[in-house]
Amino acid sequence: MKKFYVTTPIYYVNDVPHIGHAYTTVAADVAARYKRLCGFKTFFLTGTDEHGQKVEKAAHSQGMTPKELADKMVVRFQDLWRRLNISCDHFVRTTDPYHEKAVQELFKVIQERGDIYLGEYEGWYCTPCETFWSEGQQLEGNLCPDCRRPTEKLKEPSYFFRLSKYQEALLRFYEEHPRFVLPESRLNEIVSFVKMGLKDISISRTTFSWGIPVPGDPDHVIYVWFDALFNYLSALGYGWNPSRFETFWPADLHIIGKDILRFHAVYWPAFLMSAGLPLPERVFAHGWWTVEGQKMSKSLRNVVDPHRLIDEYGADALRYFLMREVSFGLDGDFSHKAMAHRINSDLANDLGNLLYRSLTMALKYFRGEVPVPMKRGGKLEDLAHDVVRDIEGFMNQEAFNRALERLWDLVKGVNKYIDTQAPWNLAKEKRQGELATVIYNILEGLRVTALLVSPFMPQKAQEIWDQLGIEAKVEGASIDELRWGGLEPGVRVRKGKPLFPRLDEGAIVERVEKELADQEGPIEEEITIDEFAKVRLVVAQVLRAERISGSRKLIKLLVDTGKDRRQVVAGVGEHYGPQDLVGRRVILVANLMPAKLMGVESRGMILAAVWGDGMALPGLGEEVPPGAVVR
Ligand code: ME8
Ligand code: MG
Repeated sequence: MKKFYVTTPIYYVNDVPHIGHAYTTVAADVAARYKRLCGFKTFFLTGTDEHGQKVEKAAHSQGMTPKELADKMVVRFQDLWRRLNISCDHFVRTTDPYHEKAVQELFKVIQERGDIYLGEYEGWYCTPCETFWSEGQQLEGNLCPDCRRPTEKLKEPSYFFRLSKYQEALLRFYEEHPRFVLPESRLNEIVSFVKMGLKDISISRTTFSWGIPVPGDPDHVIYVWFDALFNYLSALGYGWNPSRFETFWPADLHIIGKDILRFHAVYWPAFLMSAGLPLPERVFAHGWWTVEGQKMSKSLRNVVDPHRLIDEYGADALRYFLMREVSFGLDGDFSHKAMAHRINSDLANDLGNLLYRSLTMALKYFRGEVPVPMKRGGKLEDLAHDVVRDIEGFMNQEAFNRALERLWDLVKGVNKYIDTQAPWNLAKEKRQGELATVIYNILEGLRVTALLVSPFMPQKAQEIWDQLGIEAKVEGASIDELRWGGLEPGVRVRKGKPLFPRLDEGAIVERVEKELADQEGPIEEEITIDEFAKVRLVVAQVLRAERISGSRKLIKLLVDTGKDRRQVVAGVGEHYGPQDLVGRRVILVANLMPAKLMGVESRGMILAAVWGDGMALPGLGEEVPPGAVVR
């Protein structure tokens, strides 16, 4: 029997699940359900990533232990997956004992290979991304090149993994497996990245404790990514369920977002090579969703909270929209307008109406009994056959949107068949035999459509079968049932509620627009006057100014604060030259902790107004003496 092992990333528990997480998980569910339909023995894994500094920080800021936070958040993920009918076979948590044990064992295996050594890490760390960066990789002002948030300087003893040793082997592997990473353009990115040279990577930390201890050196916790990636092995049974592990490893498909491709396409195969394990078949990196045209922010998230979308549109409509709206691999924008439009045109009109009018005719002409056809299905049967074949091709390259597009050729084909065969004329002319064939074919077209749509919309597929009078469950149906002619004459259709009620698109857009407008100027966290009083703002006069070489933005200033003279680095270089600044009075945050910018010490910060690409320093007249307090 053929097998199929598909995974999602395991999601961090510092945050509640949102539409991006739902997207990946629905895609993996669609892949798993389709393979099950095709008779593959399937294992579908999802779960949560619970260790690391990010989760520890989030927990502490909420006055909880990391485990308490994880226990609370994991339920949020599991509830959402239940509501979305995610058919995962296992849900892994990285705090599960079998996982922790497997990670430690794999650490030892890789260590025995000679691929782990103790050294010292000196560089930068982005906690939101849980990523190490070197000085050269960072953006100006010590910002993370991925998320542009400030990084933190680290200098600590650390275990390293000899990634550099695997550069050539990885390049050979990509060459021999050109479909290891999809879309293709993403593989090219990975190849160029690896060709630029791989450095050994730090895989342990000593300055916080929320992680799996390094075997034999409990001062260190294992780096969260070295821990997380191994979930794909541990959850399968590495070290505790050898028969399941043997059956399913290597993975057939890791579905991830493009944000974490490097971890999956470079680090992960290198870890596996080192551990002497077979490499996965494929990593598919899908694109990024924005929301109503904007980056997904905390406030925007309410507008597209998956629970709310399920309440308003239903789980299947949401699943359909996510899979149909954008090419799998490309970025997309989620808007209520697009969602309502898709539901009305594809689901209410094309599919829902088709079912409704078909059953109406079956009731009218045959008292609801599926008639015995006089002939085979002709062109409609051929179309169904071609659609089944093409969908298989698309599904095998994760072109989920194209599979749906092609399926709608069948939906539209059946609609057209009704119009051209005009059963109402056959009835009028009393051509009973032909009428029976036509009605049978229409209903059979719907049966096949339901089966093909079932990986995407499992509940609605079942509803179609129920209304057609089919007793069986769609889930659990086999590939043979896709063959034309499966509908049994004599069963009674059971016309029910419309499959997808029509939505008032105008009203939806209006409501969401109002909601977005109300959110403008988000409510910010308030501070007390005492908190504000901690910031000492004074007027300072610029005595000297010079550009910092190698930086477009930074200018080094010597300022007179009335009390002292000090050096301050200001990021105003794209708007002001040194000559504009000398003699000028500026507002200085005088009691800011000193910092280094591009290696230059700054004692305080200059205030400026900023908007879009613009920037302006406040104007203060010559009568204002240095040292004057701003309050
Ligand atoms: O990275 N559009 O977890 P994470 C599309 N724990 N997909 C999105 C998205 C968006 N706007 N936002 C998030 C981690 N995603 C690690 C993974 S795996 C061994 C460890 C999806 O909670 C997308 O799949 O930050 C992305 O890769 C994932 O959520 C990141 O989830
Ligand atoms: Mg993330």
